[in-house]
Amino acid sequence: MRESLEAGVWRLEVGEPLPEWVVRLDRTAFGSPWKAPSDQEGLWLLPERGFARWTLIPAAAEAELLRIAVDPAHRGSGLGRTLLEACQRDLAAQGIDHLFLEVRVSNASAIALYRTCGWKPCGLRRSYYADGEDAALYALKLS
Ligand SMILES: CC(C)(COP(=O)(O)OP(=O)(O)OC[C@H]1O[C@@H](n2cnc3c(N)ncnc32)[C@H](O)[C@@H]1OP(=O)(O)O)[C@@H](O)C(=O)NCCC(=O)NCCS
Repeated sequence: MRESLEAGVWRLEVGEPLPEWVVRLDRTAFGSPWKAPSDQEGLWLLPERGFARWTLIPAAAEAELLRIAVDPAHRGSGLGRTLLEACQRDLAAQGIDHLFLEVRVSNASAIALYRTCGWKPCGLRRSYYADGEDAALYALKLS
């Protein structure tokens, strides 16, 4: 039986089906839901309330945050922070020591979340998104 990592956060095990609520929240937050994670990805869950999806590069001890979302009805109450900090601790326990992400420069709530979890800005990709918006790059060293 799988166990909760901390604060109600779980990791989807390899081969486990993608829960329907994740597909719904993925669509609500990003418009286009992704399929079940590949072998190179990890998906962490706060059941019915939030998820975070990462690409894992164990050979380089790196991981990249692909998507994090909290159900709109539960935003602003600390769940994003709970989820991200649980991911950071679990990734560190797996030997990952550098984390990266990119985010739209207009996404103030996500940027606030990353900054409160210790992430530092490390670059900018101009006109990165299809609509011409810039991407801000953030990094976090875990060890
Ligand atoms: C980004 C997101 C995951 C944040 O989740 P959340 O549960 O609302 O965040 P939290 O309540 O844990 O807040 C974390 C920190 O960010 C800050 N924050 C959250 N929402 C904010 C907002 N709208 N404006 C300013 N700061 C905000 C909080 O002040 C908090 O800091 P604190 O703990 O020091 O007070 C959520 O807004 C979301 O799902 N957005 C849509 C999807 C998305 O854009 N994902 C990011 C790109 S992949």
